[in-house]
Amino acid sequence: MCGIVGVLGNHEVAPILVESLKRLEYRGYDSAGIATLNDGKLDRRRAVGKLVNLSDTLVHNPLAGKSGIGHTRWATHGAPSVTNAHPHQAGAVAVVHNGIIENFRELRAELAEHGANFVTETDTETVALLTQHHMNQGADPVTAAKQTLARLEGAFALAFLFDGHDDLMIAARKGSPLAIGYGEGEMFVGSDAIALAPLTNKIAYLEEGDCAVITRTSVEITDQNGTLANRAVKTIEIDSTRIDKAGHKHFMAKEIAEQPAVIGTAIGKYLSPQGDIELSDQDIDFNDFDRIIMVACGTASYACLTAKYWFEQIARLPVEVDVASEFRYREPPIPPRTLAVFVSQSGETADTLAALRYCEGKAARILSVVNVPESSIARESDIALLIHAGVEVGVASTKAFTCQLVVLYMMVLKAARARGTLDAEALADHIFGLRGLPATISHALEKNDTMHAAALKLSHARDVLFLGRGQMYPLALEGALKLKEISYIHAEAYASGELKHGPIALIDENVPVVVMAPRDALFDKTVSNMQEVMARKGKVILISDAKGQAEANDGVWFSIEMPPVPDALAPILYAIPAQLLAYHTAVAKGTDVDQPRNLAKSVTVE
Ligand code: F6R
Repeated sequence: MCGIVGVLGNHEVAPILVESLKRLEYRGYDSAGIATLNDGKLDRRRAVGKLVNLSDTLVHNPLAGKSGIGHTRWATHGAPSVTNAHPHQAGAVAVVHNGIIENFRELRAELAEHGANFVTETDTETVALLTQHHMNQGADPVTAAKQTLARLEGAFALAFLFDGHDDLMIAARKGSPLAIGYGEGEMFVGSDAIALAPLTNKIAYLEEGDCAVITRTSVEITDQNGTLANRAVKTIEIDSTRIDKAGHKHFMAKEIAEQPAVIGTAIGKYLSPQGDIELSDQDIDFNDFDRIIMVACGTASYACLTAKYWFEQIARLPVEVDVASEFRYREPPIPPRTLAVFVSQSGETADTLAALRYCEGKAARILSVVNVPESSIARESDIALLIHAGVEVGVASTKAFTCQLVVLYMMVLKAARARGTLDAEALADHIFGLRGLPATISHALEKNDTMHAAALKLSHARDVLFLGRGQMYPLALEGALKLKEISYIHAEAYASGELKHGPIALIDENVPVVVMAPRDALFDKTVSNMQEVMARKGKVILISDAKGQAEANDGVWFSIEMPPVPDALAPILYAIPAQLLAYHTAVAKGTDVDQPRNLAKSVTVE
């Protein structure tokens, strides 16, 4: 979380920093700030809340200078306040930081003994103070920063500026991503390439433990051993980093609407016109594995849970799914013929990355399903399958979730064919259904008005339950997560059959219950559970297809009709009502849809 940016430029840098921060605001929006060097002197402007507040501050109190660093914050240590906002400055040193310095208390105690003056509650201030301390003892800025970096434990991406050194910026990475952008007589750093896209398309990614000493015309990178290192400068596709709302009111609305297109792209990347699924240049033979473990966080973990139903039913391959924050500390045994799969939109989620590293050297193969090709998770996997969703800006994941499902589904088909659990004819049926999915999703999106009407009803609720059975259970979990994170309505999901083991006590006339029930083999069972809810005056919103509605519409509070879809693909299709219900409910409640409170898009801290 937190986004950082730095520029050694040839123009006034404040507006450039603000523009880059705008592109990083998805990483946190508790406060924002910039520091520049004006006539060799550091000066800062900081503001609490969204970036727009910093822009207002700069209108009344501009900041000159052609070298600068900037930060958008997701608070970890210290409440969101101007004092705790980055950049942090100690004497001649200004610093922006993404991550957590775990040993900051110990360093603080040491610095206190030397008379350091602390003004913030943050871990980051320690970095600035320690660097200044080394400079007080005679070190030049580069040496002082390197001495400081050697003392830091935890995760960080850092950028430093120094009083009197207009042509010097130091950047370092350990545990949090950092990109260096190469311009013509200008240099940039940013938490990701998106931040730098308007400035340059020439990007090098720092590796773990790297430190870069940057001037307008040079970059000297040393690795974790202090040895000079070469990091490839790549030309990135600017198009892939374009971010605008394309006429939609919110990024989330735009990203929901994009799903037919991006799902079509994802399918096309792995499925040949002849119907062959080619996942990777590297051979993946699913006969090499006895089991799969799948690890992820949040929405991505629900994609894994859906895939568990598919892998087990279609490919007869046992799957264990775990959330990364639990997996990483449980130290589970990993038998040798295990395929370890990590799913992450950002590819930077700290817990998922740590879980991946735990599996290194234990699992037979490490495979990731990611959206960001240069991300840490992609780079540290044996095989990285891209989901091709394009940049996802809305904090609530939508198109990334459905593209994850599509890629996982193609893995399942590949596995099933290899293991002989699907014959050629059955595979052809699955592929035929898959090819039709973008059009079916377009039809579902046409039901927007119905979902809007249902959402208006939901927006008055205090608590909402979501029910699903079998492969629709993870979708119920996703529907509840979407609703709570952007509308702040308390929502829980249960496997329909679990309801009577406790949660049914919650049901009364004030609790809407959203039931995800395509007319599949488990439909009758789910409908029985739905009847149990209605018998207790629960208000049911039934999401089903025409057949299901014909059989079960009696007595429901509201009904949403989905187009027919092959059974296995229902979880992907039913993501659309899950997303749109949450979206319209949030809009009706007037919450901040794209940047809900307390959340950030890329969770790079534990
Ligand atoms: C919810 C949401 C989060 C993410 C989770 C994992 O809408 O977006 O639950 O799914 O933080 O993030 P990634 O996929 O980047 O690892």
